[in-house]
Amino acid sequence: MYIVLELVLVCYKVLYSVLLAAGRWLVKAREKSVHGRLCVITGAGSGLGRLFALQFAHRGASLVLWDINRSANEETADMVREIYRKMSPCTGSGDSIQEVPVFQPKVYTYVCDVSNRESVYATAELVRRDVGDVTFLVNNAGVVSGRHLLECPDELIERTMMVNCHAHFWTTKAFLPRMLELNHGHIVTVASSLGLFSTAGVEDYCASKFGAIGFHESLSHELKAAEKDGIKMTLVCPFLVDTGMFEGCQIRKEIAPLFPPLKAEYCVERAMRAILTDQPMVCMPRAMYVVTFMKTILPFEAVVCMYRFLGADKCMYPFLAHRKESTNNNEAKSHM
Ligand SMILES: *[C@@H]1O[C@H](CO)[C@@H](O)[C@H](O)[C@H]1NC(C)=O
Repeated sequence: MYIVLELVLVCYKVLYSVLLAAGRWLVKAREKSVHGRLCVITGAGSGLGRLFALQFAHRGASLVLWDINRSANEETADMVREIYRKMSPCTGSGDSIQEVPVFQPKVYTYVCDVSNRESVYATAELVRRDVGDVTFLVNNAGVVSGRHLLECPDELIERTMMVNCHAHFWTTKAFLPRMLELNHGHIVTVASSLGLFSTAGVEDYCASKFGAIGFHESLSHELKAAEKDGIKMTLVCPFLVDTGMFEGCQIRKEIAPLFPPLKAEYCVERAMRAILTDQPMVCMPRAMYVVTFMKTILPFEAVVCMYRFLGADKCMYPFLAHRKESTNNNEAKSHM
């Protein structure tokens, strides 16, 4: 008898969650403050990572930037400092009001190869010791081999798996314990729509992003099971972004204008909104929710037909060709 009551209650709660999620579409949820919080971003030297850094900086968060490329990471740090400088309250305005100590956000840079767990643990230890408690962890670093499976050196495949997937384990193991102690924090997984459905020629990338999403979902459930409601998680799944990572990728010409590559700035703004309103997941553009749903319910052959119609079956081939060409050119240049 008891279970029937419970079932009614669950139905009510499920309905309530759905309505609440729908409501977020219509009513803008309040954004939480990140002012004075510490935010770690991996792959901060370029692309989305850099833009995430600038967004957090504009909102007054302190930043810990990780990248394997020192000079690229420093460039981002300079941009962040510029933002802080413009933000800093004017001094010497002649006000006689007693001076209140104002929090001044800071930026720290670390060279870290996230595919190397020793490197991650050592760098995280430095951050804990020298900077403090991390509130936001943005697992953003990502790579793609850009070769056909049978032409791809094993090392490149391993690298994609380590950077895009394994690294999430190491960074989370490094920073989650303190978040659990405080029951406070936010872990962001920057995945891809290629972590929800796939296409030909990007086996390494899809495997790693599916892996990252599996990791993210399981960890989300684990935090719920442990009733650590103070730690939030957000999964970000953008479709093609104009950062040049998949340069050359092309769907059917007549349809391509409907799905232009996302502007990286737009992508990060949407993701920030999701993060700051504790939204568990965001897909961009929204049509990608439909693709994910179709892929789940339709038979494989039906999906193949649709892919062929959309030109999504071989959309990565021009990208692979483009990569091959530029690699050859580089090799040619380095032999000169
Ligand atoms: C590192 O970043 C700099 C500045 O963005 C760039 O010019 C350089 O090519 C990068 N190095 C590597 C190895 O990617």
